[in-house]
Amino acid sequence: MRILVTGGAGYIGSHTCVELMQNKHEVIIVDNLVNSKESAVERIAAITGKAPLFYKADATDDQAMDLIFSTHKPDGVIHFAGLKAVGESVAVPLAYYRNNLLSTMVITDNCLRHGVNRFVFSSSATVYGDNQVPFLETMELLPRTNPYGETKAMCERILTDVAKVNPEFSVTLLRYFNPVGAHTSGLIGEAPQGIPNNLMPYITQVAKGIRKELRVFGNDYPTSDGTGVRDYIHVVDLAEGHALAIEKAEPGVEVYNLGTGKGTSVLELVKAFEEANDLQIPYSIVERRPGDIAECYADASKAKEKLGWVAKRGIVEMCQDAWRFEKSYEARA
Ligand code: NAD
Ligand code: WQD
Repeated sequence: MRILVTGGAGYIGSHTCVELMQNKHEVIIVDNLVNSKESAVERIAAITGKAPLFYKADATDDQAMDLIFSTHKPDGVIHFAGLKAVGESVAVPLAYYRNNLLSTMVITDNCLRHGVNRFVFSSSATVYGDNQVPFLETMELLPRTNPYGETKAMCERILTDVAKVNPEFSVTLLRYFNPVGAHTSGLIGEAPQGIPNNLMPYITQVAKGIRKELRVFGNDYPTSDGTGVRDYIHVVDLAEGHALAIEKAEPGVEVYNLGTGKGTSVLELVKAFEEANDLQIPYSIVERRPGDIAECYADASKAKEKLGWVAKRGIVEMCQDAWRFEKSYEARA
């Protein structure tokens, strides 16, 4: 298939492009590089031995998208492009609503105009809100605590409504849990700008000496050791989930959790990272981070049943691969 990947120069997008190209699909990347670098495209080429087509363009730009759709006539779209920093979304909500909603609407509209029937959307476990674990696709979604999460829930609704009146259209909503790790080549991975918001990149930056110590946000949650529990998933497993989702797409809407189904606490992840890489991660316990929930992990049985997808890589691989990428990533100050 010929697959248009918006946000394909980003963290999850770049790994998915590699997976798609290794599965013999043709890939066209659209990315405005607001949170990534063009070198990611060269690195995808270095891993796969073939350069993907790349457009530096904005997914909210209807004219630019129309030209790309009519030139390449893709068979399907995976829409990763979006802004994703939770804290920033509280500070500049309009930028988040504008970018995430408008890009989704423009890409969907182009799919309908150009007869592209496969649409895979990057959603997030954040849409569940503070629900009962494990999170199941059929659960009623609870309110989110930040605009970022709201944009994901709103995009899910938009796509669901569009699918209702377009019987040929296939929408797959993939709810990711906590993506971590990197491709084993060490060539692509997560390279946040500035101070990382997420736990794993913060840990790798402490390991590298860029940050002095990890701040653990609260140890008084009702969990085994009091720290927050999350379902960390290796980004290459996630990439494999996307390839299966677009290959097996059928008309209508399907929602899948992409997680391991296993919860890991902050302190367990720190210990696993230390053991996997033979390193020490200094940390201190500080107050809870506003908006955090105690536990978040998936019931991942639907993806196994219907897509034949399971997460194969464990915490040790996630920690080793994240560290390999961090060690070799020189461009950061
Ligand atoms: P990322 O920031 O690395 O990738 C997103 C890419 O989209 C970037 O390369 C950015 O430059 C590009 N982009 C943003 N707005 C654009 C626009 N208007 N037009 C064109 N390109 C644009 O983030 P990621 O972690 O790879 O996340 C990919 C998707 O998955 C996002 O939609 C994110 O919300 C979602 N998601 C991420 C996580 C996570 O923890 N990483 C979890 C759940 C869902
Ligand atoms: C994990 C755990 C923190 C940093 C976020 C988004 C979610 C999704 C994935 C996009 C929590 C603790 C963290 C630190 C810490 N993204 N922590 N010290 O909050 O589960 O999910 O990313 O869709 O929408 O909300 O991930 O990595 O930030 O935090 O103690 O410096 O690590 O409190 O328990 P989170 P995270």
